[in-house]
Amino acid sequence: MAVAAATRIAVVVVAALAALAPGARGLRRDDFPVGFLFGAATSAYQIEGAYLDDNKGLNNWDVFTHTQAGRISDRRNGDVADDHYHRYTEDVEILHNLGVNSYRFSISWARILPRGRFGGVNSAGIAFYNRLIDALLQKGIQPFVTLNHFDIPQELEIRYGGWLGAGIREEFGYYSDVCFKAFGDRVRFWTTFNEPNLITKFQFMLGAYPPNRCSPPFGCCNSGDSRREPYTAAHNILLSHAAAVHNYKTNYQAKQGGSIGIVVAMKWYEPLTNSTEDVRAARRALAFEVDWFLDPIFFGEYPREMREILSSNLPKFTPEEKKLLQNKVDFIGINQYTAIYAKDCIYSPCALNTYEGNALVYTTGVRNGAKIGKPTAFSTYFVVPESIESAVMYVNGRYKDTTIYITENGYSQHSDTNMEDLINDVERVNYLQGYLKYLSSAVRKGANVGGYFMWSLIDNFEWVFGYTIKFGLYHVDFDTQERIPKMSAKWYRDFLTGSNVTDDTQVRSRRADS
Ligand SMILES: *[C@@H]1O[C@H](CO)[C@@H](O)[C@H](O)[C@H]1NC(C)=O
Ligand SMILES: *[C@@H]1O[C@H](CO)[C@@H](O)[C@H](O)[C@H]1NC(C)=O
Repeated sequence: MAVAAATRIAVVVVAALAALAPGARGLRRDDFPVGFLFGAATSAYQIEGAYLDDNKGLNNWDVFTHTQAGRISDRRNGDVADDHYHRYTEDVEILHNLGVNSYRFSISWARILPRGRFGGVNSAGIAFYNRLIDALLQKGIQPFVTLNHFDIPQELEIRYGGWLGAGIREEFGYYSDVCFKAFGDRVRFWTTFNEPNLITKFQFMLGAYPPNRCSPPFGCCNSGDSRREPYTAAHNILLSHAAAVHNYKTNYQAKQGGSIGIVVAMKWYEPLTNSTEDVRAARRALAFEVDWFLDPIFFGEYPREMREILSSNLPKFTPEEKKLLQNKVDFIGINQYTAIYAKDCIYSPCALNTYEGNALVYTTGVRNGAKIGKPTAFSTYFVVPESIESAVMYVNGRYKDTTIYITENGYSQHSDTNMEDLINDVERVNYLQGYLKYLSSAVRKGANVGGYFMWSLIDNFEWVFGYTIKFGLYHVDFDTQERIPKMSAKWYRDFLTGSNVTDDTQVRSRRADS
């Protein structure tokens, strides 16, 4: 970054920091347990680019963004994205500057196995993640690795219909084994899947993500069955997860000393009214969102609410599968951004075309004309800091003694916001402060929380929203690939390093500017 630009930003940031609410002061890193992981998160397709480099195979998102560009807000794709594949050393450097002790990223399956098991292992792909992992460790940053964050080799999309086909379980088993073998000597934290509870709905219920399958009233697709397929795909993911955990625990954990978990998306549901029906609806929405994946892993079966409502549309586990599922995870990752109101649709009919439709729940961000929290660039995400405490306490209570990591939490802005407000992201600073405050409250109440990751390190390709939505701590100029720290990056750094902006730095940056 040019010195003049850096200085200008520093002055703006210092001025705006001074304007923050004093009530938010006082939160410190040591309000969290010793050894707590603080990090930032990204995923392969969203940042790497280099989509054809070094023998990488095409994945489902490469093909989808090219063949159906009209489904992406700005018709763009991840061909280049943040060019992280070529700029990873710079990105490790900005992580180091932030003062994080961990970095959550995902491995591109098609970079490691361009055609799944139908081709060989791509040594250049292995070499890339080796370089990244080594660069992180050299800076004292623990890699927190996601095996699957939405992208799968296109070969598997074609052969199995993605997660809909049971054959993909063997594929994931093979892929995860290659990764444990290649990287497990240095990786302490593995997660099998990112947000399988969200992706199966976006793929097979709402039809928005490849392979774009759905049926009315959820959407209009060429084919699909919104009431059945999300649960078939989820079943395959759960069994893929269980087999990978079993393999890791049997063959790698003792000598490699790492841990393994899974990451679920977790909205918090507030009943719209105090009626028993709405209170039950909120609980039911949570069962369809979180217990859906975590109950089978912890208790060997799907939650009662789902079995009752979905009946034969919900697959069953055989006794052998139940046994496999009992390979307990070492931790649970939750991606927590928001809360929303839940309204019952069993006793009073409502439109059931939404994300929570199969739970017979209608959700809304508004009660009696008032929003549940400040809106963000994502229309269904509101700023509700208490929701992180509620979510953590719920998971801590239901899945006792399991360590929880907040694997994502973050604030989005529209890309058409003016540059000064993008960089001076006071709202993101407030968001971060607020959520960390409620997270520390959950910790004080005894919840077993092991770490927190901010989504995201850098602005990136936000799936069907393309580049129109920005979550980064660092702004990225996509013409030059310059990374520019936002005010939130500085706030996070100050929080992590305990070195808050002093009068002295204000004087120095002003002097340098003149
Ligand atoms: C629910 O009940 C509580 C306590 O009785 C009350 O404070 C709150 O306003 C009620 N909420 C709604 C949405 O009616
Ligand atoms: C640093 O100090 C400013 C001004 O007192 C405050 O607003 C800000 O939240 C502090 N940053 C951190 C990380 O605590």
